[in-house]
Amino acid sequence: MFVHYKEIWKQKLADALNALLDENGVTKTVATSDIVAEIPPQSDMGDLGFPMFAYAKILHKGPSQIAQAVLAKLDTDTGAAKGMGPYVNIFLNRAEIAGELLKEVVLGKQGRLGRPDTLKGKRIMVEFSSPNTNKPLHLGHLRNDILGESISRILAACGAEVRKVCIINDRGVHICKSMLAYHLYGEGKTPENEGIKSDHFVGQWYVHFNRMSKEDPVVEEKAQEMLRKWERGDENVTALWKKMNEWAINGMKETYKRTGVSFDAYYFESETYLLGRAEILKGLEKGIFYRSDDGAVMIDLSAEGLDKKVLLRKDGTSIYITQDIGTAIFRYEDWAFDRLIYVVGSEQRYHFKALFSILDKLGYEWAKNLYHLSYGMVNLPEGKMKSREGTVVDADDLLDSLKEMALQEIKSKEREDAVGNPEEIAEKVALGALHYYLLQVSAAKDMLFNPKESLSFNGNTGPYLQYMGARISSMLRKASLSQASDAIPAVQPELLSGDAEWDVIKTLFDYNNTVAEAADKMDSSIVAGYLYSLSKAFSRFYHDCPILNAEHPDLAAARLALSKAVLFVLKDALQLIGIPFLDVM
Ligand code: ARG
Repeated sequence: MFVHYKEIWKQKLADALNALLDENGVTKTVATSDIVAEIPPQSDMGDLGFPMFAYAKILHKGPSQIAQAVLAKLDTDTGAAKGMGPYVNIFLNRAEIAGELLKEVVLGKQGRLGRPDTLKGKRIMVEFSSPNTNKPLHLGHLRNDILGESISRILAACGAEVRKVCIINDRGVHICKSMLAYHLYGEGKTPENEGIKSDHFVGQWYVHFNRMSKEDPVVEEKAQEMLRKWERGDENVTALWKKMNEWAINGMKETYKRTGVSFDAYYFESETYLLGRAEILKGLEKGIFYRSDDGAVMIDLSAEGLDKKVLLRKDGTSIYITQDIGTAIFRYEDWAFDRLIYVVGSEQRYHFKALFSILDKLGYEWAKNLYHLSYGMVNLPEGKMKSREGTVVDADDLLDSLKEMALQEIKSKEREDAVGNPEEIAEKVALGALHYYLLQVSAAKDMLFNPKESLSFNGNTGPYLQYMGARISSMLRKASLSQASDAIPAVQPELLSGDAEWDVIKTLFDYNNTVAEAADKMDSSIVAGYLYSLSKAFSRFYHDCPILNAEHPDLAAARLALSKAVLFVLKDALQLIGIPFLDVM
């Protein structure tokens, strides 16, 4: 409910209640912030409801009686009020509010429909995707990517300066595994001469390694040996590593481009992991860490409810957390942030708790501004994703099959000519379907991705929202054909006073506040949910109220202007959650 009006009426209620208290000789007063405003369960009960129960005791009267007494004192020059049992309910002035809305749309200003500035001046770094270079992106990354990308856009919409970053985990024994398999059996093959997307090519060697290791576990030791060579800077190993990483990363960048995901900076673990090691040795000197009997550097986090944790192995090599310590410090020096959000799977919750606590102990006061945006697993209904066996749900394959399904749908509806470029539209529908489906569930929950359901045109889906945009666009095109622009009648907002129209108007006024809430809670599903309410409100309006064929040209003009406002907000919100807008489909 639009906050602005809620605040105005809270104030009015407080004034009326205080007048009443005064009249009854009560010295206590009620603060505006203590007034509770509710949304009535049905729209014919008004737009706001104020319960009177809380005042029964001080006034020695029943709540219904108080409601009546408050009504008599209430300033109602911008709306109407009714006593409904123990409630004072407010009916906002629809014509006035519609006027305000349309003025903003007609003037082309965002005004209160636009974006809040709750995060103005804040620098927020968002880390997401962060793949390993031994295999291509999978379905889990698609969830990660759109969570990171959308939350970044939402934060930026609230005025924050956002820096999207990705850490490429490009070193370690798992990277050496695909390298080793290629080294042994690659025989000069390349992605180009094999005609395979370059990250998939690398991934095949990782699968190959896992097959080898089942037959002969000795290869695990060989991979470790390769890692030691890499750490010593062995020339051949380094050359192989460079070549394969480039293949992996270039391939992934194609996928990012395809899904509309981008980064302002890439960090590479190979460049930061040594910095982490130095930091740990410093901490050891300061006595924050200790050396265990076998020589490893450790920290005892049992006071924090965590365990004892190894930070450097006894042979001096780094582990996962070592590099994260280095990377965080490096990032802060690179770009001092007010907040750093890590979008990483929930299985790493423990890791991030430990990381934040260690950075805090090392004395970095920005450690309190680190946040783990943790998300659950995503599987296809058929079964779990597993990378080791090579049965992972590959991101590109999934995108291809969604696109193919969307294309079939366009063909079966014989919409190929109407949409112009069926391939391009199908690709955008596929992305809309995927991103909406992934975001509509709150991040923390595990989920199943159902491709068929995600593409459905009726229901709570991305394509349904895209369809609504196309429908409005087509209507506006028709309208502009039938009216010369200077002949458009001046919009009369008071004509938009029906229930369906009012519902749309209220929803539109909620937008700004919804974006602010999503940013505040770092939860993109709030924007997804908002889009669904908007689409429901619009559908009802579209169904109940003829627009182009309205009884009167003035009414048609007013309803068209309202549709324009819906389109404006729809486009903006779709963009925030990575759903391509389509003006035909
Ligand atoms: N590449 C890691 C993995 O696949 C995720 C990296 C998460 N980010 C981080 N700063 N640790 O598990």
